[in-house]
Amino acid sequence: MKHDFLLPLQGSLMRTGLGAVVAIGLAGAAIGQEADAAPVEGGLVTAEQAARGDALYEQRCATCHGADIVDSFASYPNAALFFGYVSTAMPADAPGSMPPQQYADIIAYLMTEIGQPVGTEEVAADQAALAEISPAAIKAANAEGDQ
Ligand code: HEC
Repeated sequence: MKHDFLLPLQGSLMRTGLGAVVAIGLAGAAIGQEADAAPVEGGLVTAEQAARGDALYEQRCATCHGADIVDSFASYPNAALFFGYVSTAMPADAPGSMPPQQYADIIAYLMTEIGQPVGTEEVAADQAALAEISPAAIKAANAEGDQ
């Protein structure tokens, strides 16, 4: 089952009244709309990659943004949208000037900032793979874990 990994989340989502939203998302996915990307399990980011992304963020993004992009990232339904924007429009003083993998490293860093556990695989600069990563869901799952 493609969406088995959602099951641990469902109880708490139901309690918060978001169950209906999840159900609609699953129905959409079932008919081929992948816009509602599912939350990812641990292991899609390594600590090394997140550290690289942290350093890149400090050098290339923080001068203009401070830490505000963390919250912005968390509002994206999937990481491919974020990647598509930042890899063509950012840094604003040199748009698209960084190698694709460096934007993926920054995404890896931002994922850990909102609660993604580290593991053994790296985030790839690949639209299809990034579309499966939901920052909003990572953030939501992490917020529940904190309660
Ligand atoms: C020279 C200053 C500057 C740098 C460096 C810069 N940005 Fe931006 N960024 C901006 C400005 C200005 C905007 C607003 C652009 C607009 O509205 O058209 C923006 C907008 C954004 C947005 C969309 C708005 C939001 O808050 O979600 C994202 C995401 C973003 N930047 C990410 C990055 C990332 C990631 C980096 C580093 C790779 C970066 N930026 C580097 C100036 C900068």
